[in-house]
Amino acid sequence: MPSYIVVGASRGIGLEFIRQLSAKPENVVIGVIRNRNTSKDAVALEDGRPNLHLLLADITDYPALQKVAEDSTKLVGGKLDYLINNAAFQESQHNGLAIDEYPDEKTLEDDLLQSVKVNVMGVINTINAFLPLLKASAEKSTVKVVSLSSGMADTDLVVQHGVTMTVPYAISKAGLNMVIAKYASKYRGTNLGFLAISPGVVNTRQQVPTPQELQEYEAMASTFKEAYPHWTGPITPEVSVKMMLEVVERWDVKDSGAFVSHHGNKQWL
Ligand SMILES: NC(=O)c1ccc[n+]([C@@H]2O[C@H](COP(=O)([O-])OP(=O)(O)OC[C@H]3O[C@@H](n4cnc5c(N)ncnc54)[C@H](OP(=O)(O)O)[C@@H]3O)[C@@H](O)[C@H]2O)c1
Repeated sequence: MPSYIVVGASRGIGLEFIRQLSAKPENVVIGVIRNRNTSKDAVALEDGRPNLHLLLADITDYPALQKVAEDSTKLVGGKLDYLINNAAFQESQHNGLAIDEYPDEKTLEDDLLQSVKVNVMGVINTINAFLPLLKASAEKSTVKVVSLSSGMADTDLVVQHGVTMTVPYAISKAGLNMVIAKYASKYRGTNLGFLAISPGVVNTRQQVPTPQELQEYEAMASTFKEAYPHWTGPITPEVSVKMMLEVVERWDVKDSGAFVSHHGNKQWL
């Protein structure tokens, strides 16, 4: 009875994680969302699947995460095998700007602090809240903590291909990679493994993009095409999650602390 907690399960890649994982009746799956009213697809999925449960928390709220961990204990039989940190803040209006193009320092600071609060501190909060359940499982078998990073946090890619955009987001995901390295170093040699994984470029848009978003996307896409001439455009959440779950399954905890793509290596697209 493998148990999974997927954080940020309301939509996009997180919703697809709970869809694919709960399709196997032997899995127990908990999706962490912020609001049932705005998570209609996840709620509909929960209605039809007895092995899927939705619990509420914002990852910037540590006591709320502790409550989720407490409420999960019975559902997962006192031990958690997989934690998937998928939630992130990535919807800044300034994603297209380079680091010295912000209208003012305050705007840059606000964007950066919000990105770090959710994408770095939020992930630390989440891992710490679930550590007792993860450790209980690690006493007997392999346990995997998987955190969604981004190829945008790969310094070689950024420098070699002039990836100037998504500054606070990329910085926060680079911070997340170090968070994973720190947990990996703390739990080195145990059954508890930590992995940062990039999902590729995935189409998770729910609304028609604005002209500004379209322009930003085209600039980003042309940079990606320069780096990866074979790249044909975004993949679906279904394909991305399938590929990531395959990587997670074959990844060994002795490689804890790694930062890889949905291909299982440093090929980001
Ligand atoms: N899509 C891509 O191309 C891409 C590329 C590289 C990396 N990634 C990474 O993959 C992950 C999923 O991406 P996505 O495109 O599916 O994202 P998304 O569609 O923007 O969904 C983000 C999810 O995170 C949740 N969330 C945001 N802030 C939260 C908070 N403070 N507390 C709890 N939940 C919070 C959202 O919940 P609400 O519905 O309540 O807002 C939603 O479930 C992210 O970590 C992202 O950085 C995505």
